[in-house]
Amino acid sequence: MNGGQEKLKFIDLFAGIGGFHVALEKLDFQCVFASELRVGLSELYEENFGIKPNRDITKINVEDIPDHDILCAGFPCQPFSKAGSQKGLNDERNGSLFDHIVEILEHHKPKYFILENVRNLETHDKGRTWLYIKDQLENRLEYSVDKHIFSPHHFGIPQHRERFFIVGSLNGLDHFNWPTTTPNQTSIFNYLDENPSNATKLENEKLHVLDLWQEFLDSLPKSAKLPSWPIWSMEFGATYPFEKLTPYASSSRAIGKTKGNFGTSLLGMTRDEKFRNLPSYARTEEETFPTWKKHYIRSNRAFYEKHKKHIAPVIKKIQELNIPSWQKFEWNVQGEERNIRNFIIQFRGSGVRLKRTNFFPSLVTVSTQIPILGWEERYITPSEGARIQSLDHIQLPENIGSCFSALGNAVNATIVNLIAKELIIESAAPNLTINGHKNGKIVNNHIPISKAVGA
Ligand SMILES: C[S@@+](CC[C@H](N)C(=O)[O-])C[C@H]1O[C@@H](n2cnc3c(N)ncnc32)[C@H](O)[C@@H]1O
Repeated sequence: MNGGQEKLKFIDLFAGIGGFHVALEKLDFQCVFASELRVGLSELYEENFGIKPNRDITKINVEDIPDHDILCAGFPCQPFSKAGSQKGLNDERNGSLFDHIVEILEHHKPKYFILENVRNLETHDKGRTWLYIKDQLENRLEYSVDKHIFSPHHFGIPQHRERFFIVGSLNGLDHFNWPTTTPNQTSIFNYLDENPSNATKLENEKLHVLDLWQEFLDSLPKSAKLPSWPIWSMEFGATYPFEKLTPYASSSRAIGKTKGNFGTSLLGMTRDEKFRNLPSYARTEEETFPTWKKHYIRSNRAFYEKHKKHIAPVIKKIQELNIPSWQKFEWNVQGEERNIRNFIIQFRGSGVRLKRTNFFPSLVTVSTQIPILGWEERYITPSEGARIQSLDHIQLPENIGSCFSALGNAVNATIVNLIAKELIIESAAPNLTINGHKNGKIVNNHIPISKAVGA
């Protein structure tokens, strides 16, 4: 209770580190139930918000969940994301979690819901997954439903993180407008700590990788255009088959006449040895490569032929690196000065990637991909990561890997806050009472929302 008026109540399913909680608490709504499977995150949730989350939502009886006005859920996205298995709703472990949301909505009939998932949800399984979700929400549960893709950078927060938001209302959505985006960006420099003492410095071996790629850039004539496709240095000198048939579809004899990684002769090797000397992406068990892969291989080989007299010495050193992804380089900063230290850097599975400093790449759950500030030769700090997720005033996991994994899982709290404001407060006309709720508080007067909004 607050000033004699009861607050609007929400539940936070798949609560993670609490992005929805932070967003809705700012609107003075009250969390009455949370659910989070992971021990560490659920303990932290209790520390931050004073609510002990139920652990596994699949194990609870819907009747045991308290009544609420708003259901929030950022349901697990692995089955829908491009990086995941793409099994979608057929994923035994996670796909059916959406059906638990449906069950809770069906039983409790909250007036509103806000769901969040990866951008790819809409197109997953040729759109069938989204059609199923929409059908359940609209036809089975009779909610009015709308969806939108938003990223923090649409609201001036310097992180590129597109996510799929779904809202539902039992009272129709005629009153609802998605929050207004802004073309203006806040500089990432406003989001950085000044000389943070807790920052993790970039390891020496990675500094060495950057030095080698800088040497590569410096070796090229200024007039040589840098590729917009990923540089796969293992293709430099390679001649194994790729245009018509893959190595997998070729005879061992035919492969033996060609060259593998960095021009290694494959002559006289067993088939297994030959394959060990090919790039991992060329060992796939398929008859032909997809067009994009052929394009990258062809372009890399042509690039090397054109520039080898300049770059051969540094490529010899890059060949010595013991992690294949360090031998790949993504210059995603066309037209900029050729100084690696000017950019945001990520050591990704796909290669060493450079990004401009206009916004951060999406935080992801893989802690090895924490963005690096090239000019300070350090990883971003947990507080910087929290800031670009609008979660700056909560306690974070102490371990840096767990911390970035949680931040990479989280929903940006500003986006949810703006959506909730539009859905539940602002667009319902501030001075009108909606089904007994006024400005987020319950009052005794009951006017159906259709009247309140249409009035
Ligand atoms: C995409 S994250 C959502 C993060 C959250 N919205 C936030 O802001 O941090 C999904 C979360 O669901 C949790 N989860 C997965 N299966 C669960 C289950 N059966 N019951 C409760 N939580 C679950 C995961 O541990 C993960 O933290």
